[in-house]
Amino acid sequence: MGRRASPSKGGPGGATSPLPTLPQAPARLAFQPCLRHPAGMSDARALCRLDDIPDGKARGFPGPEGSFIGLLAVRRGARVFVYVNSCPHVGVALEMMPDRFLDGPGRMIVCAVHGARFRIEDGFCVSGPCAGDSLEAVEARIDADGTVWVPADAGA
Ligand code: FES
Repeated sequence: MGRRASPSKGGPGGATSPLPTLPQAPARLAFQPCLRHPAGMSDARALCRLDDIPDGKARGFPGPEGSFIGLLAVRRGARVFVYVNSCPHVGVALEMMPDRFLDGPGRMIVCAVHGARFRIEDGFCVSGPCAGDSLEAVEARIDADGTVWVPADAGA
């Protein structure tokens, strides 16, 4: 199980300075690029460190305790895109091999079951049996220490 921490207790590093107000993302595209603190998440969990994901690659992560659905995260430089690991076609996990979520060039997220292809930036399915649907985006924030935070119930 992944490391858990509570930002209400100061999060990693225990920062105590006033936090900026975070902009609201559209509901469908909840990703907030490279914000520097998990402020605004009332109950967050640390997913990993950004450096745990090689640039241009993806990794899978377990969901919250008791959940059977995990998450996937794709790193692009200083940004990370996180989704619930469930194909909108029939609700199965996207990968058949650990951390194999991307096509060969690393341009798209691919479902290994029937080949649906999803944009990394917003999870929109551009081809396959669920074309026009989207992966469920998970709000992800990166703090000053490089820790990636997601809502505690993401994937529940
Ligand atoms: S289960 Fe993903 S494309 Fe069919």
